[in-house]
Amino acid sequence: MLLVTLLAALPYVYSLVTPRQAAGAFFNPTENGGSMLDDAGNGLGEPLNVIISGLSSSGVLSEDGFINYAQAIGFSTECLGIHLGGPQSANLGDGNGFVNQTTELRQDFGDPALGTCLESLIGGNHLRLYIQNGPEHNTGALFLAVSQEEDAADSHDIVPDGYDIGRDALVAAALGTTSFGGTTYSTTAQNLTGLLAPGSAGVNHDIATDGITTLLTVTIV
Ligand SMILES: *[C@@H]1O[C@H](CO)[C@@H](O)[C@H](O)[C@H]1NC(C)=O
Ligand SMILES: *[C@@H]1O[C@H](CO)[C@@H](O)[C@H](O)[C@H]1NC(C)=O
Repeated sequence: MLLVTLLAALPYVYSLVTPRQAAGAFFNPTENGGSMLDDAGNGLGEPLNVIISGLSSSGVLSEDGFINYAQAIGFSTECLGIHLGGPQSANLGDGNGFVNQTTELRQDFGDPALGTCLESLIGGNHLRLYIQNGPEHNTGALFLAVSQEEDAADSHDIVPDGYDIGRDALVAAALGTTSFGGTTYSTTAQNLTGLLAPGSAGVNHDIATDGITTLLTVTIV
């Protein structure tokens, strides 16, 4: 009897670990008319190459909560509110259709107040945030388009391989224990394939990627 119960539960247990479903961690936008590329306004897009799981602590899964977390891992709001370039939009398949980025953050070089000004001048890591909170798939997951940029003289183009480099640098800074503003975070990572196609099809600036999206689970400790 116990064995029968366990066997009956197996498909459910398995569904918890398959990336395609990932039970509440996020919903794959491509399964409901969305895309894992955002819309840069020229028919191309930036890869959504980092997802913060909807199973993270709820205190991280909002714009304010994310901004505090981002400061713990080396990002801050843009230089003195100065914003270079237009917003990009994304369709996360959650029923909201295309929505503009919630915010855009830059690497702060250790100075949350002024470091992003340096990034604007010399280049560095950069992210756009989209929140999966529409009525059809309200997972709360945060989708990030992360890229390593050239300096302002190059009008903030992405460096060669800049999507993979930006993702890996953000993840390296995020892993383990971090803190900012009195909040301490513990972060784990899992690489997912099959969400983004490897290569450069549809990718802005014609920069190829390895097709990996890294899923972060962030717990406030
Ligand atoms: C995004 O913002 C721009 C500029 O404010 C606006 O023109 C555009 O309609 C917005 N796009 C979406 C999808 O809301
Ligand atoms: C994810 O993939 C990147 C690129 O191959 C690699 O550097 C990183 O170590 C991987 N991370 C995990 C958690 O497997």
